[in-house]
Amino acid sequence: MIFDRIKPLDAILANAERKGLKRELGAFQLVMLGIGAIIGTGIFVLTAEAAQKAGPGMMASFVIAGFVCGVTALCYAELASMVPVSGSAYTYSYAVLGETVAWMVGWALILEYAIAASAVCVGWSKYAVGLIESVLGIDLPSTLTAGLFDGGVINLPAVFIGVLVTLMLVRGTRESAMLNAALVVVKLLALVMFIMLTLPVIDDRNFRPFAPLGTPGIIGAAASIFFAYVGFDAVSTAAEETRNPQRNLPIGLFGALFVCTVFYLLVAAGAIGAYGVPPVLSSQGQALAPGSAALAARCSELGQSAGLPLACSGEALAHVLRAIGHTGAGNLLGLAVFIALPSVILTMVFGQTRIFFVMSRDGLLPNALSQVHPRFGTPHVVTMVTGAGVVLGAAFFPVGRLADISNSGTLFAFLVVSIAVMLLRRRDPTRHRPFRTPLVWLIGPLSAAGCIVLFIYLPFAAQMVFPIWAALGLAIYFLYSRRRSQMAPDTQVP
Ligand code: ALA
Repeated sequence: MIFDRIKPLDAILANAERKGLKRELGAFQLVMLGIGAIIGTGIFVLTAEAAQKAGPGMMASFVIAGFVCGVTALCYAELASMVPVSGSAYTYSYAVLGETVAWMVGWALILEYAIAASAVCVGWSKYAVGLIESVLGIDLPSTLTAGLFDGGVINLPAVFIGVLVTLMLVRGTRESAMLNAALVVVKLLALVMFIMLTLPVIDDRNFRPFAPLGTPGIIGAAASIFFAYVGFDAVSTAAEETRNPQRNLPIGLFGALFVCTVFYLLVAAGAIGAYGVPPVLSSQGQALAPGSAALAARCSELGQSAGLPLACSGEALAHVLRAIGHTGAGNLLGLAVFIALPSVILTMVFGQTRIFFVMSRDGLLPNALSQVHPRFGTPHVVTMVTGAGVVLGAAFFPVGRLADISNSGTLFAFLVVSIAVMLLRRRDPTRHRPFRTPLVWLIGPLSAAGCIVLFIYLPFAAQMVFPIWAALGLAIYFLYSRRRSQMAPDTQVP
């Protein structure tokens, strides 16, 4: 029952041809799409949380999280090149592990993409509010700039940006992809500026003690900062809109991941070396959990000075620049984030809509969702539904909590991809593989183990959301989707 209804790869490919989207993305646009999805709230905002968990050891956290994503990307690339249709991990699981697991993966990907988009909306709002406060000198009330579960009532800036991005996506992929490329350049320039201003003033004493909270701190930070790498897989969700996907998808995945990893390590080294990132401790000397009320209280005790620890800042990188005397550059970086972070939201919502689109085409979600707009050629219904969900999350929850929840869904999807690539090697060894994962029997298990370890080190609350979400998903599947599936025995394939 669980592993039945495996959809033959040839049927998936044929179905995609029948009800397809326009193929208009090339390798360069895919790398841009990847970087657009990857560099965002993780590095610009959550660096503060990583610092609180690991201190200077967050350098190692970036390496660990990057390594897990790297080995998973190797697995993704093989499947993405073999099955170059929309839907990413959901589609691959359908072909390898059957409909139930595919549904679970699609369901987990909602956490990955939609909740990640919510997290980035909140991250953007922190920079937007910081910019308004530090440049214009206007103090905004926290009741309207932080969600109900984040010390306020509703995060209006986050709602605003969520709505704006959704409307842009309804208008069309080409315009969105071009704008995305321009925003990626802005984001990279901001990071280059940060690196150039911080690396020359590194003090190596700031790297000691390297791991004030030990190895668990470092792995815990890796589990959270994993969010900074999430998004490379969004490239594969665009497979069906990609020209020559066999060549372009692997280039898109690796190109994007490589560029981002290099930037992250340089930025982390700059922040640690130039400013120092010792975790904030309670008056009894205990490390405080990121996002906790206790940490917020301790931070407000420490005051609003420029010397405030990194872990207390919602605009981590801008804060470092301001604190080391580059106020103008800090504001400029804030402006760049303000302009460019929407590209991350855009890519995340884009990825989510394409997964919903394919699930609905498979009959697992209502058919109305896969309607394509007659003039714009976009799946407009599903885009608006996704946008509404994203805005809801962004309005009320704190960024770190959203990011950790998103990570839990992503890690599940990545785990399934790592297993699927190995299973498919066994089950269908002769099928043409335009890209083959090197050393698959080493890389596959490493990827799977990495995902499990990071999941174990997520905060307890985020770990708990996943099983609850999964149970809800299974209930919907068995009560609704399974009967309406294109693979159900009495369903006529249109
Ligand atoms: N990796 C993306 C970010 O950090 C999701 O914002």
